[in-house]
Amino acid sequence: MGRTMRTPIIAGNWKLNNTISEAVALTTALKDLVADCTGVEIIVAPTFTALATVSDVIKGSNIRLAAQDVYWEESGAFTGEVSVPMLKDVGCDYVIIGHSERRQYFGETNESVNQKAKAVLSHDLQPIVCVGEQLEDREAGRTEEVINDHVTGGIAGLSAAQLLSGVIAYEPVWAIGTGKTATPAQAQEVHGYIRKLLKDAYSDEIASQIRIQYGGSVKPENAAELMAQPDVDGALVGGASLQAESFAQIVKNAL
Ligand code: PGA
Repeated sequence: MGRTMRTPIIAGNWKLNNTISEAVALTTALKDLVADCTGVEIIVAPTFTALATVSDVIKGSNIRLAAQDVYWEESGAFTGEVSVPMLKDVGCDYVIIGHSERRQYFGETNESVNQKAKAVLSHDLQPIVCVGEQLEDREAGRTEEVINDHVTGGIAGLSAAQLLSGVIAYEPVWAIGTGKTATPAQAQEVHGYIRKLLKDAYSDEIASQIRIQYGGSVKPENAAELMAQPDVDGALVGGASLQAESFAQIVKNAL
């Protein structure tokens, strides 16, 4: 199965940005700009506080909602956490899990990523599992080792059907927020490696169906050449998703 069988998926990770009124303005503008875009999945991931409002704004549109993180327990004495049923209740279809900023600043591990992925899937939401090497890993020739560790740890124990409900996002940490995008060839090399890992762990058919997004300084100017790579199925966009025009342009360049 070729790339054409996988629907491109472009997600905007707003990170720690936007009040509710700013989120409404951004989403309303985006909704108009991408209203005619078909054949691509468009996702926004606001902060927890803006999810309910953004969920209302996108109702009936072609934009879908993601959360930036989740906790795996459903309820109970876990102060400060948000559960999968709560995200489902507010209208999320996707949950970003294991973003490098969560790994770096908030103690996220492959084990917690795996628990979160299982919890998300058990409620029929879709995890976007982030993986990616640091600059020193790449410079020391350890990129594949780190990617292998993140991928196999993050998806451990998932059935083939569960795996296919999710998305993997390759985000080289050195390219996030730095303006240093991976070259299309560098992105393709790692995306191809991830697909090979999935082929070995599952099957050729499963590996060829799963979608793998690239993230790290994706902009309107580089989106098309990244998306043209055979194993790049979409983008996870940080900075450039905070402006409706630039995010909409990335969506259009992915088609
Ligand atoms: P960036 O962030 O596009 O600002 O580099 C990407 C991400 O962290 O998902």
